[in-house]
Amino acid sequence: MRRKIVAGNWKMNGSKDLAKTLVGHVRSQVESLDNGVEVVIIPPAIYIGDAAAQAGDALALGVQNIGQWESGAYTGEISAEMAKDQGCRYVLVGHSERRQIFGETDDEVAAKVKRLVISDLNAIVCVGETLEQREAGEAESVVAGQVRKGLAAVAPNQWSHVVVAYEPVWAIGTGKTATAQDAQAMHASIRKVLAELGAPAEEISLLYGGSVKADNAAALFAGPDIDGGLVGGASLVAEEFVSICRAVPASA
Ligand code: PGA
Repeated sequence: MRRKIVAGNWKMNGSKDLAKTLVGHVRSQVESLDNGVEVVIIPPAIYIGDAAAQAGDALALGVQNIGQWESGAYTGEISAEMAKDQGCRYVLVGHSERRQIFGETDDEVAAKVKRLVISDLNAIVCVGETLEQREAGEAESVVAGQVRKGLAAVAPNQWSHVVVAYEPVWAIGTGKTATAQDAQAMHASIRKVLAELGAPAEEISLLYGGSVKADNAAALFAGPDIDGGLVGGASLVAEEFVSICRAVPASA
């Protein structure tokens, strides 16, 4: 059975205080959920310790980015082993903001994924098309290319460390979401590409991201190939985020 996951990506938001109060509140609410969802909090790395102090066993932690190198003179970067050392189990890779603002390439995504799986961390690899690409009918081929290139270095025994998040770029932070049908269709297409890569495609969790909110989560998560969500803005509001975690169906 694939893992069902809801991950909250705080991006460059929050504070020490929020890491304490929000994480504590979310933990107290999700502890009693019986839908089997794994809840992951991904605050700015500097607050990982504050979040970890509140997370207990009910919440997993992640970071938003790592450097692709093992260690060394890379000012400003943090390594996979450092994230692991701080108790993180998940790392976002190739988020569209990293691709668009920081010029992260598919080759860098592949190098980071390789580094993460070596460290036994789970990579949440983000893929997604722009509005222009969707309107040009290229959405599936763009996403398939990102999946193929980003996961090129994964060895047959490392797939259990891979999660893919489909996030249409035009849906991130805009209040627009893909329709449940379009999201499901893209997830099914990603699963096909994973199978072509030799991955155990039926066992890999695929998350939807892009303006997931409490009032649209259940419809999106009902797709048979949608195993949860990657949540930005709504993960900064405790009750909203908990409602999204609750919206994961027990049998998905
Ligand atoms: P959003 O962000 O939920 O605010 O649209 C999603 C993401 O960027 O992961």
